Amino acid sequence: MTEPILFAPSDAPFWDDPHIASQMLYAHLDPNWDAASYNHQTIAAIYTFLGERFGLQEGSSILDLGCGPGLYSVKFASDGVKVTGFDVSKNSLDYARGYAESHGLDITYIHQDYLTLDIQAAFDAAVLISCDYGVLAPERRSNLLARVYRALRPGGWFALDVFTHEKRRGQEITKDWSIEAQGGFWRKQPHIVLSETIAYPDRDVYLDHYTIVDVDGSQTHYRLWEQAFDRLALVTELENAGFLVQDVYASLAGDPWTSASQSVAAVVRKPS
Ligand SMILES: C[S@@+](CC[C@H](N)C(=O)[O-])C[C@H]1O[C@@H](n2cnc3c(N)ncnc32)[C@H](O)[C@@H]1O
Repeated sequence: MTEPILFAPSDAPFWDDPHIASQMLYAHLDPNWDAASYNHQTIAAIYTFLGERFGLQEGSSILDLGCGPGLYSVKFASDGVKVTGFDVSKNSLDYARGYAESHGLDITYIHQDYLTLDIQAAFDAAVLISCDYGVLAPERRSNLLARVYRALRPGGWFALDVFTHEKRRGQEITKDWSIEAQGGFWRKQPHIVLSETIAYPDRDVYLDHYTIVDVDGSQTHYRLWEQAFDRLALVTELENAGFLVQDVYASLAGDPWTSASQSVAAVVRKPS
């Protein structure tokens, strides 16, 4: 197969496809699985670390970008922090709204692409958790950083994480296929999955390319991109967007960075 053009989009929605979204929600809510969200022990560690690092108090405000089913939003809201979550998955937001309502939590959830965020200096902090930044093409990353910067108050905090090359070591290039006779992750109906990982080593990019063949023979290509970062590359992008980098860790739970870390996380501030 010829290599797709870097960051070429999928043929169809991924996060907001109703069937895929229901599978994703299942993965988000699994307490032991590091899939769509981190396992729930890690989520608790990230919430505690960031809450303290940001100095959040009752009445502080936080933007949860790509909030999914609101696993972090509910924790911050339980402490009296005013949370606004943005996500493109209607299914996840339906769950998040239902959970907040049944637990008496006042959280604002907005069904909107965070690349269209248009808020001026209104938030004390923002988070983008679970390595979502690296799926974006470079121009989309700088667009997002500019929008987050604008949304923060002077001195506001932002934290995000991304994967490093270590995450892919030993599995840079793979090919596989399967017949999902009972339906599966991609489709409720029977389908065939052809999967391939392609590395673009000169650009530090990986593509997990899934071709789904439906019973009528039609093919849909899902292209899941990942920009791998090292510490310097992440810091440079954040500084170019005007942020002051406060700390770099191996994870958003504050684990110390080493050259063997599979992810790199940064805590940054908008200048006061
Ligand atoms: C890997 S999940 C992480 C969810 C959540 N941050 C967590 O860690 O539990 C990525 C989330 O980002 C959402 N998402 C992806 N692209 C988005 C975009 N452009 N705008 C808003 N949400 C997006 C997805 O729907 C999904 O809920």
